[in-house]
Amino acid sequence: MAHLLLLLLTTGLPAALAGTISSFYGCYTEGTSERALTGSGTVDATSMTIANCETFCYRQGFSLYGLEYGSECYCGNSLSAGSFQSFATDCTSPCAGSPAETCGGSRRLSLFGKSPVAPAISPIPYPGDRVHAYRPVGSGCYTEAVGGRALNGASISSSSMTICACADWCLNNGFMISGTEYGDECFCSNAIEKSANETNIGECDFPCAGNRAEKCGGSDRLSLYEWY
Ligand SMILES: *[C@@H]1O[C@H](CO)[C@@H](O)[C@H](O)[C@H]1NC(C)=O
Repeated sequence: MAHLLLLLLTTGLPAALAGTISSFYGCYTEGTSERALTGSGTVDATSMTIANCETFCYRQGFSLYGLEYGSECYCGNSLSAGSFQSFATDCTSPCAGSPAETCGGSRRLSLFGKSPVAPAISPIPYPGDRVHAYRPVGSGCYTEAVGGRALNGASISSSSMTICACADWCLNNGFMISGTEYGDECFCSNAIEKSANETNIGECDFPCAGNRAEKCGGSDRLSLYEWY
């Protein structure tokens, strides 16, 4: 009987005390056509903290909360299409009310929730059920385009860049072609600009920022891969 009472007491903790049991899932992107968390939200440019956002969202019955750009707090029970885990280095905004804490970044959420398991992301836009793999395009090394980017769909840079990280990030954003450049940059598209040319693989000789054993393009040169 005493055990049952204890169980009831511990499982019935008020939301404000639940901070100790929240999980941190990582740094997430916004959704493709709407916010990652659409349940509720608030902005506090002076006193936003992780705990304040948690209280705000849990009190309204939501199981997920995310902080963005230092002062924004969003709530929901699931992630919108297109939201997925991005590089940890994208989330570097100090919380407005507690600068030692990190509250997301520009279009990036520090995502937390009640479950120990990260929320599901919508299916990656991989066409069909063929072998899920990527391979070099042509020689594997391309120039940038004349007056523009060879791949102009989306881009990101990260101190943890690798060929795989870039290819995954592009695929999760809906792009089949990925290219790393200058060691830490990643570009995506579904088509290579016409004025970008295949070139000698030796011109792509910058080590990847996140794995120096791999090559991630060069100056104006991309190590190009495609999903197939
Ligand atoms: C790629 O090749 C075409 C055709 O030879 C040329 O017009 C274009 O300038 C080249 N692009 C670059 C970036 O050198």
